[in-house]
Amino acid sequence: MKAAFLVKYGDASSAFEIREVPRPKPKDQQVLIEVEAFGLNFADVMARLGLYKAAPPLPSLLGYDVVGTIVECGPAVTEFQTGDRVTALTRFGGYAEFAVAESSVLGKIPPSMPAGVATALSTQYCTAFFLARELANVQAKDQVLVHAAAGGVGTALVQIAKHQGCEVFGTCSSAEKVAYLRDHNVDHPINYRQHDFAEKVTEILGNGGLDVIFDPVGGKSVKKGFRLLGAGGRILTYGVSSMNQAKSVFGKLHVLGQFGFYHPVQFLSKSRGMIGVNMLTIADQKPHKISRVMKQVISMTEAGILQPHVGGEYPAEHIGDAHAHLESRKSMGKIIVKW
Ligand SMILES: NC(=O)c1ccc[n+]([C@@H]2O[C@H](COP(=O)([O-])OP(=O)(O)OC[C@H]3O[C@@H](n4cnc5c(N)ncnc54)[C@H](OP(=O)(O)O)[C@@H]3O)[C@@H](O)[C@H]2O)c1
Repeated sequence: MKAAFLVKYGDASSAFEIREVPRPKPKDQQVLIEVEAFGLNFADVMARLGLYKAAPPLPSLLGYDVVGTIVECGPAVTEFQTGDRVTALTRFGGYAEFAVAESSVLGKIPPSMPAGVATALSTQYCTAFFLARELANVQAKDQVLVHAAAGGVGTALVQIAKHQGCEVFGTCSSAEKVAYLRDHNVDHPINYRQHDFAEKVTEILGNGGLDVIFDPVGGKSVKKGFRLLGAGGRILTYGVSSMNQAKSVFGKLHVLGQFGFYHPVQFLSKSRGMIGVNMLTIADQKPHKISRVMKQVISMTEAGILQPHVGGEYPAEHIGDAHAHLESRKSMGKIIVKW
């Protein structure tokens, strides 16, 4: 089979090589999927830049999500069979014509669901649903701030929060993205290159405070966000995309320091909280939660409540262009690569 290996850290144009390798074999609870398309996630960009320590060493096969058809089941698989079309979390290995996935993190999808839509569900929509519904438990009229709101997880969070009846603030970095957020019914789109997001939120909210903040940026964004929370408010920190600008170990430590330092008494006295989320840890320790969330996002998508936006489809030989697009911060919604 063909697989797109990361062979060199750095620039997207020379980082990947398509190589011929044997198909993997599914073990016990795993399935082998013939891949129609695989998705890109921001963590892939961090891995390509050599900034993601959980990624396998070079030459490395990245890839967290695929859509395709099961062609072989491990001996202990009972819920799925060959021929099922699925969206799946692959925990690396997704950039290939065939990929293995644990059956606990698969979802059956109908033949009519476009590959890009299905690919967005397993990582980005599952992450968003877990954050918004299971952890933050957003409610009608909650005032919710979504950072990187035009991105993959951001779009999903916006759709889930709007469906719950929240008033949504969304940050982004361009006029095109502001228009995209308006199209997605974001109540207060904020271009943070033009306005300080915290000042803008305070100006709109007056003396109130936000109920929920979803922050994948990290560093000072979290520190500023924490101050914007009202009583009962919580900030969910689930990424450090600001780390990609850190050029050295000191730069990384600086970003980590910018998160701020907190004592539980602050949470208690001000009735505010902070929750950190890593979906890989959830998949490792509580796979049934991924499975539960996956079923929910698939059925909400089939019902038309969730509508993943596919912001780019690339052929596998142009994987470098797909990566460069995601890294450019111009992408909106999900970026996929097709075989
Ligand atoms: N914890 C988890 O388990 C988990 C799971 C999935 C994703 N994530 C995180 O969620 C975030 C979104 O992931 P995604 O795959 O959906 O990507 P994405 O949102 O489609 O793309 C990343 C976006 O982040 C914004 N951004 C803000 N600061 C940035 C910076 N310093 N450098 C680059 N981009 C920056 C950019 O939008 P603007 O320029 O408009 O701000 C960019 O378009 C990532 O941080 C990712 O690591 C975490």
